[in-house]
Amino acid sequence: MNTTMTDRMTAWALAREDITTANRRDPACPGPLVVALSYQGVHAMWYHRVANRWWRNGHRSWARLLSQLARRRTGIEIHPGAQIGRRVFIDHGMGLVIGETAVVGNDVLLFHGVTLGGTTMSHGKRHPTVGDRVVVGAGAKILGPVYIGCDARIGANAVVVKDVPNGATAVGIPAVIREHPNYMEAHTAASSVDDGDAHVRIEENEQREPAMYYI
Ligand SMILES: CC(C)(COP(=O)(O)OP(=O)(O)OC[C@H]1O[C@@H](n2cnc3c(N)ncnc32)[C@H](O)[C@@H]1OP(=O)(O)O)[C@@H](O)C(=O)NCCC(=O)NCCS
Repeated sequence: MNTTMTDRMTAWALAREDITTANRRDPACPGPLVVALSYQGVHAMWYHRVANRWWRNGHRSWARLLSQLARRRTGIEIHPGAQIGRRVFIDHGMGLVIGETAVVGNDVLLFHGVTLGGTTMSHGKRHPTVGDRVVVGAGAKILGPVYIGCDARIGANAVVVKDVPNGATAVGIPAVIREHPNYMEAHTAASSVDDGDAHVRIEENEQREPAMYYI
């Protein structure tokens, strides 16, 4: 889904959008030139776009090699098969891992040390799906094929192993919900951006039980 969206834009337009996003999302940002030259999180997204294209075109070994080169240069490991939306910003980078079957929505903010990982060796969907405008705090681990609802916030160092409803805040180990989930009333840092071309949507009849709310 994100792939068709990104395919419609030129690489240059996407790169400019990434730089603008970093400029907007990072209050300490000194300007677009510094972002383009030195922001590892932005560079990791650029590497991933190429690696993901190679992966989808069947050049899987080359895609893996490129993603490992990106890991060496940025400290960020994104599997080339992962689906990443637009305007995703990885702040500080370093130590971030995104697994093969992970899906990350648009306008997501990820801090350093985040893992979107699996809990099983079996093939198939085994990594999280992260909705649009989610913020994942530094060091948080989201494990297994769980769904993180749009506009949710995951606290720093949380370990999330169950679904998180739209607009909820999850903290702790194992993560529990701190606020009643209400998508419309979510006032997160991430929700201050456009939600125009949201691409990770759960249809009404696909809504899942917000299991974590009952912990
Ligand atoms: C989870 C988070 C989004 C909540 O922010 P918030 O809505 O402003 O929440 P508050 O700070 O008012 O805290 C609400 C409660 O959650 C607790 N809490 C907040 N963050 C927590 C965390 N990461 N882990 C455990 N508990 C946390 C607070 O202690 C407070 O508990 P209390 O009600 O018992 O007093 C925020 O604390 C967070 O972790 N953001 C990540 C930021 C980050 O990683 N920055 C890195 C910059 S380099």
